[in-house]
Amino acid sequence: MTATDVFDAYVHTDPGTLRGDSGKPYLVEGRCAHRRTQLSAGWVEGDCLRCRYHGWKYDETGQCIEQPGLEEEGGFWDKVKITSYPTHEYLGLIFTYMGEGDPPPFLRHRDMEEEGVLEVGIPEYWPCNYFNRLDNASDGAHMAWTHRESMSRVGRVLKTPNMREAVETNYGLRSKSAGYGQGAHYVHLHWPNTNQNLTAVRIEGSLEDAKHLITNRIFWRVPVNDGKCVSFVVDNLPLKGDAAKAYVERRKNAEQSDADLHQIGEAILTGKMRIQDIDKGMSLYKLFWIEDYVVQCGQGLIADRVTERPSPLDRGTLMIRKLYEREISRMAAGLPLKEWTEASNLVHDEPED
Ligand code: FES
Ligand SMILES: [Fe+2]
Repeated sequence: MTATDVFDAYVHTDPGTLRGDSGKPYLVEGRCAHRRTQLSAGWVEGDCLRCRYHGWKYDETGQCIEQPGLEEEGGFWDKVKITSYPTHEYLGLIFTYMGEGDPPPFLRHRDMEEEGVLEVGIPEYWPCNYFNRLDNASDGAHMAWTHRESMSRVGRVLKTPNMREAVETNYGLRSKSAGYGQGAHYVHLHWPNTNQNLTAVRIEGSLEDAKHLITNRIFWRVPVNDGKCVSFVVDNLPLKGDAAKAYVERRKNAEQSDADLHQIGEAILTGKMRIQDIDKGMSLYKLFWIEDYVVQCGQGLIADRVTERPSPLDRGTLMIRKLYEREISRMAAGLPLKEWTEASNLVHDEPED
């Protein structure tokens, strides 16, 4: 079993099944040691997990502690242990470390810790390699076209910014788009797979929210396997007091499921419908989701980067690839990797490197 298999099994479970009755989250290998069925279908008992197939029970370290029917004779539970992984809860998500040795220091995103409405979005499971999503992480040039329908629904028309900058920073990469009288827009990459930006329009709730609110948003782009990825998204909306309460109420009424979004995205990619024909009542959060899905999954499971024709406006995208290439080559050569640092205040001021 690879770490990817484990992750694949676990990212599809209700996180409640990972949380012990004490409230602490645990993560163990996805399959039972007995006959390898998926453990997430079993039961949480205290801080233990019991397999649904024949009832073997594991504690939080992955140690088997019960084998029903073998209590008196033939039991060997003390010799059975499945892998367990450390967990860390932060911003409404549960993080883990599946590498060797101790986990590296956890880098915080202090901008997201500021007072406001913190929202964890629905995980975005997409049928494409995670690098399709990372390629988009510093791509301000797509806004005017990919999101033209969403923008039109709030009465905005964007032009492709003609000015693009991409700078390697201590935390990763900062890219800036500007031009044609439109304000500067920054997108940040926290190394290696995390995007942060201030964003408007893609907001759940009412159309008025989409018109007026701006949220500080962060995405973790995570590979599941070569042809599948998931993005975990967290928003921090700078709303306080009654304004925050009222927004949370409006947000509660918004539908949580993303199942029909996939269907719509696929219907568009297979020519059965057009984005401009999507129900005008759909929230702009969901419409944005579909717009991005169509162009990024439309690149194929793994985008063909050999035959593509990048332009100077793809500077940020090309720089992300270069950084990956550089760091992976160093790793392959056994050389030290860059020590990336935490970064905050990216949403307030002209950021510093
Ligand atoms: S497969 Fe889990 S107890 Fe048999
Ligand atoms: Fe987008």
